[in-house]
Amino acid sequence: MKVFKTSQLLVKYLSKKTRPLGMVPTMGALHLGHLSLIKRALKENKSVLVSIFVNPTQFDNKNDLENYPININKDLIELRKVSEKIIVYIPKVDDVFGNITKSKPFELAGLDRVMEGKKRPGHFQGVTTVVFHFFKTFAPDFAYFGEKDFQQLLIIDHISRTLKLKTKIIGCPIIRENDGLAMSSRNSFLTSDQRKLASLLFECLQLAKSNAKKIPYSSLKTLISNFFEKNEGIALDYFIVANPKTLKEFDLGQPIDKGRSFVAATLGKIRLIDNLDIP
Ligand code: PAJ
Repeated sequence: MKVFKTSQLLVKYLSKKTRPLGMVPTMGALHLGHLSLIKRALKENKSVLVSIFVNPTQFDNKNDLENYPININKDLIELRKVSEKIIVYIPKVDDVFGNITKSKPFELAGLDRVMEGKKRPGHFQGVTTVVFHFFKTFAPDFAYFGEKDFQQLLIIDHISRTLKLKTKIIGCPIIRENDGLAMSSRNSFLTSDQRKLASLLFECLQLAKSNAKKIPYSSLKTLISNFFEKNEGIALDYFIVANPKTLKEFDLGQPIDKGRSFVAATLGKIRLIDNLDIP
């Protein structure tokens, strides 16, 4: 397995590799969710590039950045188990930001003004800056993103289409634990009590799905906030059902038809997100 620390050497290497090239950008601490994206990229491309880079500009909270789990050696072992063919890029901050000349913020059609964007100012500009830089530098034909971060997936797809980038965006389903909890690098920080409570995120999304067409959206919101209030140790941050293309929230007076539900909740200092289709 080839591992590169600088983009200069990597670009040279990639110029000799057969296309299509699939890319999977990650921040490491790899789990089965990440690996599912990588396996799909391996099936659909001749060459696959995985980046591991904890991007400082997408963290609005200094503590969150400082505590982000990093275990490069373990990640490399996991990647090797999947395929020796994978090309890995593990840059230092300088190799990425020393090469970025960005003038103005990305136009994101308001997709960054709701949910995670509202809670974490600047987060999506930080994400798009780095992802756009990767796309420009390595020109992957396809890039794979998880529906786990549905808003991120939509925003990256938006820049790929509006800026007419060569890279096509492929969304991949959420990989879950047995009790439904969406896999996340942050799950490792949960205490065993918090870990049990964390399954409530997926449970609430299922509860919402089975009631969405029967009651007005306002009643659905009350149902979900009551569901969380019954449980100590977990606090609902938001529950929103929105149009899956525009992220525009549904009208409160109507039942839901063809939406996507989004939830964020906090357990101690750990904030988790999840989402589910409402067909
Ligand atoms: P990270 O959180 O490491 O996630 C990398 C990719 O894995 C993202 O596309 C994310 O949606 C996907 N992913 C995470 N958990 C998943 C799960 N349980 N099932 C399916 N896919 C899952 O997202 C980022 O990094 C960063 O913002 C990044 C795009 C790399 C830019 O810095």
